Order: sequence, then structure tokens, then C-alpha cells
Amino acid sequence: MTAPPQPIRRSDARPPTPPAVGVRLAGTGHALPETRLTNADLERVLDTSDEWIVQRTGIRERRVCRRERGEGVHSLALDAARAALADARVDPADLDLVILSSVTGDTLVPATSCRIAADLGADRAGAFDLAAACSGFVYGLNIAHDLIRGGAYRTICVIGCDAMSRIVDPSDRRTVILFGDAAGAAVLRPTDDTSKGVLAQCMHADGSRWRDLYLPHSRLDIPDGDDPDDTPLHCLRMRGREVYKFAVITFSDLIDETLAKAGLVADDIDLFIAHQSNARILESARERFGLPEQKMYVNIDRYGNSSAGSVPLCLSELRAAGRVGDGNLVMFVAFGAGLTWASSLWRV
Ligand code: ACO
Repeated sequence: MTAPPQPIRRSDARPPTPPAVGVRLAGTGHALPETRLTNADLERVLDTSDEWIVQRTGIRERRVCRRERGEGVHSLALDAARAALADARVDPADLDLVILSSVTGDTLVPATSCRIAADLGADRAGAFDLAAACSGFVYGLNIAHDLIRGGAYRTICVIGCDAMSRIVDPSDRRTVILFGDAAGAAVLRPTDDTSKGVLAQCMHADGSRWRDLYLPHSRLDIPDGDDPDDTPLHCLRMRGREVYKFAVITFSDLIDETLAKAGLVADDIDLFIAHQSNARILESARERFGLPEQKMYVNIDRYGNSSAGSVPLCLSELRAAGRVGDGNLVMFVAFGAGLTWASSLWRV
């Protein structure tokens, strides 16, 4: 005879309230390939000029991985993560999570972050790759921050890395001049100082604009309007002018939206760390908000647009130069393929 069903009883236990913790940027680091590709190098192989590139983009040189040396997202991201862990004085074994933001990972399966976690010695860490193109690091920062603030995780390494040289068509002067390879990483940890961490954040996407920046793997991926005979597979395709217009408007709107969420004005922000897409795009945002030059960091002249690597590379350079002070208000902003755009406003 089966026992009569017992009434289901709710547990008296309440879910634990998340601890009120702050989140701090405990350490940062970056890594770059040694090989420089200058505008003069490009002039020799393409119908372009140093003058055109500098005037339209502000870029003078970029770094590129050498595949034959084994360089790629895995090696760059690993070096950047090691530098960030050393800076934070954190033992890799203490990492709870490794997030790699990248659209050029060495392998799709497994996620490149899994190999990086293993090579770091982060034996008990979870790991996943995050694909939000140039916005990837800022997405990762927001996610990691909230996981720590929620109390579920303590130590997270967020890496932004892209080896764009892998996916640009070397014969396409519209894209090859723009992109470079780089990695940057940040280690996030909880702190008793609850004033530290994200004050406001935004993450957006508009997939209806996917055609503006895409990478076709088969003829079926090529949208109407793009000539299949003039669209090489496995190479980035970009409608530069469309992306430019989108970026100029989005940058300003995103900054406005983030400031409004935090109840602040642009003058209150000590430093804007923006995705290095084009010096003219950064300049127009700076002018729109009347910011002095030192508040909007620019290193695109040296590295080009390194996609997800660009924001953490700036952050790492700025911290190394002592320009990110304790208690500063720092706003990260980025946009990219998707189209995606994201911001993260921190008290560091
Ligand atoms: N050298 C010389 N001439 C060139 C080059 C070059 N490298 N590239 C294009 N041109 C020519 C074009 O063929 C065109 O010639 P035409 O008028 O005879 O047809 C002319 O220059 C103007 O071309 P546009 O594409 O209209 O040039 P524009 O002023 O828009 O500048 C650029 C191009 C620099 C790509 C710009 O549109 C831009 O920066 N867009 C944003 C791109 C961006 O940020 N992309 C990254 C997004 S982030 C991510 O997720 C990857």
C-alpha cells in the first residue's frame, strides 16, 4: 500500500539577503603582439596613404599577431590575465570565474576561456566566452560586477581580447587600416567600502543592424545588397559610413543615458574610457560634452581599433600611469558589431 501524499511544505528559511559589498578593480594588465604594422607598411601593399588614414581615423600604427609564432587570442589573453593577477596580487587558484570577451577566440569549441583558466592554474574557476564584439569587455565588466555584488562570486578575471588581423581581408583597404590586435584584463574583488563599484550601467543591442558589420561563413550569410562575388568568406565586412553615423549618435546618447541613471552630469566624471573606434568619433563625443582632452583617453594612434581589447588596454595603460585615482568616477563606453553598445560607470 502506498503512503498518502504528504502536503508540500514551504521551507521557513528565507533566501539569504545579498551582502552589501563594494566591488573594486583589484588589478589590471594588458598584452600586445610585438609586430607593428605602420601606415607606411600598408601604403606599400594597398591603394591608401598615411595622410588618408591619419586624417580619417587618427591611426598611425597597429599591432598584429604572427600566427607562425603561435600568437593569437589564447596567448595574448593569457598574458594580459597573468599581468592583471600579478598586479592584483591574486593567486590564480583563488579565481572563481574567468570571462573572456572576444569574437576571434582560437576555438569556438571549447571556449578559449576554458583553456586560459587551465593555463593560469585557476583550477576551481568557471569560464566562458562572451561575444559582444567591441562592447564585449564592458558587458563582461557589468556582469562580473553584479555577480560579486550579489555575493555569489568573490574573484573574477574579465579579459577583453581580439586578434582582428585573423578576420580582416588583407586586400580590403576599408577594414585592414582600422583594426589591430590587443588584450587587456581586470581582476575584480569585493571590498568593505560599499561606495566602490558600478553606479550605473547600460547594455544594448539592435540586431536589425547586423548587416553593418558581419562575418560570413557561407554564401547564405551574405545579406541582400552585398555582392556575393565581392564578399570573401570568413572576413569582416563593414559598412563604414553607416557604423560611423551610428557611433557618433550612440556615444553621446549612451553617455547621457548613463549619467541620467546615476543622477550625474558629464563634468562630474573624472575619466571617460571609450572604445577606440576612430579618433574622430571620440573627438565628436568630447566636443559634445565640452570635455577637456585629458578626460577622454586616446591611444588609437598606436594600436588602431582592437575590438574587445581596446577598452581594457586603455584602462591598463591609465592605471599603470597613475591616472585612475582612488575614488575617481570613471565611465567606460563601447559600441560594436551586433550592433551592440554598453556603458559602465564606476567609482573606483
Ligand atoms: N585609403 C584610401 N581611400 C579609402 C580607404 C583607404 N584605406 N578606404 C576607403 N577609401 C575611399 C573609399 O573607397 C571612398 O572612395 P570613393 O569616394 O571614390 O568611393 C572614400 O575613401 C570615402 O570612403 P568612406 O567609406 O565614405 O570613408 P569615411 O570617411 O566614412 O571613412 C572609415 C571610412 C574610416 C572606415 C569610417 O567610415 C569609420 O571610421 N567608420 C566607423 C568604423 C568603425 O568604427 N568600425 C568598427 C566598429 S567596432 C567593431 O565592433 C568591430
